[in-house]
Amino acid sequence: MNIENVDYDGLIPNNVGLNGDARVKAALETWHPGYIDWWHDMGPEGFQQARVYLRTAVSVDPKGWAKFDYVRMPEYKWGILLAPQVADRKIPFGVHKGEKAWQDVPGEHRAMLRRLIVIQGDTEPASVEQQRHLGKTAPSLYDMRNLFQVNVEEGRHLWAMVYLLQKYFGADGREEAEELLARRSGDPDTPRMLGAFNEETPDWLSFFMFTFFTDRDGKMQLEALAQSGFDPLSRTCRFMLTEEAHHMFVGETGIGRIVERTCEAMEAAGIADAHDTDAVRRLGVIDLPTIQKKANLHFSLSLDLFGNEISTNAANAFHAGLKGRFREDKIDDDHALESDSYPVVRLVDGKMVEQDVPALSALNMRLRDDYVAQCAAGVGRWNRIIDKFAIPFALELPHVAFHRQIGEFSKVKADAGGNMLSAEEWERRKDEFLPSASDRDFIETLMNPQFEPGKFANWIAPPKVGIDNKPGDFEYVKMA
Ligand SMILES: [Fe+2]
Ligand SMILES: [Fe+2]
Repeated sequence: MNIENVDYDGLIPNNVGLNGDARVKAALETWHPGYIDWWHDMGPEGFQQARVYLRTAVSVDPKGWAKFDYVRMPEYKWGILLAPQVADRKIPFGVHKGEKAWQDVPGEHRAMLRRLIVIQGDTEPASVEQQRHLGKTAPSLYDMRNLFQVNVEEGRHLWAMVYLLQKYFGADGREEAEELLARRSGDPDTPRMLGAFNEETPDWLSFFMFTFFTDRDGKMQLEALAQSGFDPLSRTCRFMLTEEAHHMFVGETGIGRIVERTCEAMEAAGIADAHDTDAVRRLGVIDLPTIQKKANLHFSLSLDLFGNEISTNAANAFHAGLKGRFREDKIDDDHALESDSYPVVRLVDGKMVEQDVPALSALNMRLRDDYVAQCAAGVGRWNRIIDKFAIPFALELPHVAFHRQIGEFSKVKADAGGNMLSAEEWERRKDEFLPSASDRDFIETLMNPQFEPGKFANWIAPPKVGIDNKPGDFEYVKMA
């Protein structure tokens, strides 16, 4: 993406003309110290003074908006960058479809819009908080650098949402911006707003699963908001999506490299049975069934982020022109959906049945279906790695009824295949589907740091290519 007219001179690099907007500039400069305090308190622990080879907006580079360089994370340039304005953009869906896109908050939709921005904003710092201990057990400097790149960008995404709140929502926007710095992931009194963002990310297998499954929910939400009739939100989200692509890459290749290393070690040791977990674990790699269980956990937590399958909030946000569908601009229909229907798997008298429901109320479901299709494609790519080693094992996504806290299936227990279980059966068998205490203990034994340039922990294969095409032994992080 070609970003023009970025102003790198002040405290806050931006392409939104902050210098000519004294009120918003002052509001953001007032918010800045609290943000830096939050970063010091809740950002990567133990590495605040390390110099990290990050993609960062440090100068106006002819190649684009960013360049790679060493930077101490608290000095990262947390810029406010919007994708270029599309001339004559129209509201692409809902009751206002075809009207000029809003450059200001539409008064009648103000509360709903603010809520959408706050919920998105709240997830950004949450993941930084969840991942703050992982630097200490990084399996390589390459992986540590990728973790920190994700972290600083999530920090910037918080800036992106706070900019919208400060610029367009006056006093209540300022209040929301403060609260985004006050909530804490997992805190019993002031938790983050959504469930998956209050879970722990205790190890690197979890981190890669999180970036694959949970960041992908974020991507889908951003895709839906990038369609918004509120143009500043659309432009912000379009730029964030360019960063989010790297987070998807980190998750997918991270799990792929773990799978590869496990298969390689099994082959070298002559182990053909992936379910002989004791033998596989003795090789110091993560057995495939445990990888499956972690995937089950993170997939099910991430499905909850899409909310209820049937949702009036989602219908209202679409109707109002605030939140669209994935690739709304590529869909061939009337973009109003007033008389369309959409199939949803529901629980009726304890049985799963597919029902056609009004398309407007099934928008969460539709976005989730698009999400599941993308997850499945990624899992397929992991399986091709296993196939190359001719190991008879395939990873798969669990059924959408499995381990749910929100929506149709939150009141029942199901196994990973979607078969209903009694509460007793679930208690007895849940360790078959989700990581058990002993699985977690085993993974913990592998989480030993490998900080030597070019070296990787035994349980993960090196990447095919380095970041910014750097050679294998490049020192991605220089410790303080
Ligand atoms: Fe993000
Ligand atoms: Fe992300």
